[in-house]
Amino acid sequence: MDSVLSYHERSKHHLDRYAPGPGGLDWASQPDPFRCYPGAPELDLPLLTDELPVCWDQLFASDGAPQQVRNADSLACLLQLSLGLSAWKSYGESRWALRCNPSSGNLHPTEGYLICPDLPGLPAGVHHYRPDRHCLEHRTAAAFAWSGGVLLALTGIHWREAWKYGMRAFRYCQHDCGHALAALSYAAAALGWPTRLLSEWGDAEIAALAGVDRAGDFPAAEPEVPEALVWIGPGRAPAAAEVLARLAGAKWAGRAKPLSGQHRDWPEIPAVAEAARKPHGTAMAAETTAPLPDLAPASRQPVSQLIRARRSAQAFDGVTALGAQAFHRMLDALLPRPGQAPWSLLNAAPCVHPVLFVHRVAGLEPGIYCLPRCPQAAAELRRAMRPDWLWAQVPGCPDHLPLYLLAPMEVKPFAATVSCHQAIAGDSAFALAMLARFDDIAQAPWLYRRRFWEAGMLGQVLYLEAAASLVQGTGIGCYFDDAVHRALGLDTGRFQDIYHFTVGRAVVDARLRHEPAYAHLEADGGRRNVRLRSSADAIRC
Ligand SMILES: Cc1cc2nc3c(=O)[nH]c(=O)nc-3n(C[C@H](O)[C@H](O)[C@H](O)COP(=O)(O)O)c2cc1C
Repeated sequence: MDSVLSYHERSKHHLDRYAPGPGGLDWASQPDPFRCYPGAPELDLPLLTDELPVCWDQLFASDGAPQQVRNADSLACLLQLSLGLSAWKSYGESRWALRCNPSSGNLHPTEGYLICPDLPGLPAGVHHYRPDRHCLEHRTAAAFAWSGGVLLALTGIHWREAWKYGMRAFRYCQHDCGHALAALSYAAAALGWPTRLLSEWGDAEIAALAGVDRAGDFPAAEPEVPEALVWIGPGRAPAAAEVLARLAGAKWAGRAKPLSGQHRDWPEIPAVAEAARKPHGTAMAAETTAPLPDLAPASRQPVSQLIRARRSAQAFDGVTALGAQAFHRMLDALLPRPGQAPWSLLNAAPCVHPVLFVHRVAGLEPGIYCLPRCPQAAAELRRAMRPDWLWAQVPGCPDHLPLYLLAPMEVKPFAATVSCHQAIAGDSAFALAMLARFDDIAQAPWLYRRRFWEAGMLGQVLYLEAAASLVQGTGIGCYFDDAVHRALGLDTGRFQDIYHFTVGRAVVDARLRHEPAYAHLEADGGRRNVRLRSSADAIRC
């Protein structure tokens, strides 16, 4: 009985036992974090060596960022600021790359494929993005005839996460996909482009479009599965049948290079992936929230700088309190506003809601709080949790922000304990557990993946909002599911905890060395810089 719900149950960590995992890291089989297709023609992309003339607050203003023309330069910028490298870190003999999109264990299961018509500097077809070389591998040419936008497909390589996390890895692949979706939406917004998840496409269609269903091109390579397809641009997205018809008879170049020499099988993962496959044409319910006031200003930093400087905190100082204004802004950014990144990408009613463990926020009593992200959810969450929670209005909170105090109490040790004993959940200003609607998953199992994507998107918003407020965040995929459920008195048939996050003042580890993201390419002979504006342009904020 390999339903997604039974997988979810079996992949839970418990206070007295962890979900089945490899029990140690086999360094000999560590997967390569960068997939490539030897034999496919490569197209080097220009690098953004200057900041885009757009600041963070501009993304949320009514006129948004100025719309850029779609060409090799602007798409290079989109890829660099979403899936590209942000830095290298090293410690002793070890050296590893960081990316604009974070990933559990920094293992990066998510791959990106750009699908575009002929554009200046970019031939039409399907291209695989290589973040390490910031280049596109042209897997196939195709006479795509649409205009007004491009398609971006995200896929996942489960093995990368399973190598370290075993059975629970499928969850992390979905979180990471959500982070990547939000990263794409923000990067596109910086270029003045809207994004929309193409919910009507089925997984088999996305696989055919990205070419990851071509078994002959993955003879020894780890399987790659379709995740999400995003339309980026102001125009109307072409229909699946119309796009796929243009690929009939296409010649594909390159074969996927294996990431590891040996593998350990986790049969529960292909089984849950199969059970959670999305068929064609299942539409999502549209967003129904009432209009909200504009977000308060947060930062005048150039958005390209802020995105590339985002980092996970590895420790917090355990003393600094977050200002109430910054706290309210971070929570406000979790509420969907029509047309605004990243929530306009989902264009669906929110199904994931934070329960907050507040430790150090100026003017706020420490305790457990809840932020139902839409009015319907407030009543549902209230019914699904302990009847003695207070659900009290929070003094000083902006009127439109649905923040409720459930119980005033010291929750630092609790937050750390239920987050797999990680101190980062108690030493921060606040931590949170994300409660996802679970009552509709048995009927539509593919929604299971969507819930994790939504949670990952919440995480990405918090990462970038934390950076905008000059603090830091960290995603927490390791937590004790049922210990949280028991403490909240949660009806797990209705909601379950699917992700944790924590925000505060980070302590920097001075032993780590940092290097720029693409110094290796510049040393290689240099790359033409992205030209998206005349040098006379100035950042508007
Ligand atoms: C889904 C997800 C789960 C994560 N879980 C944890 C965690 O349990 N503990 C932790 O210290 N960091 C966790 N992280 C942070 C990652 O280790 C971090 O993103 C990665 O090392 C890359 O570093 P960067 O975010 O600074 O780019 C998580 C990140 C993500 C996206």
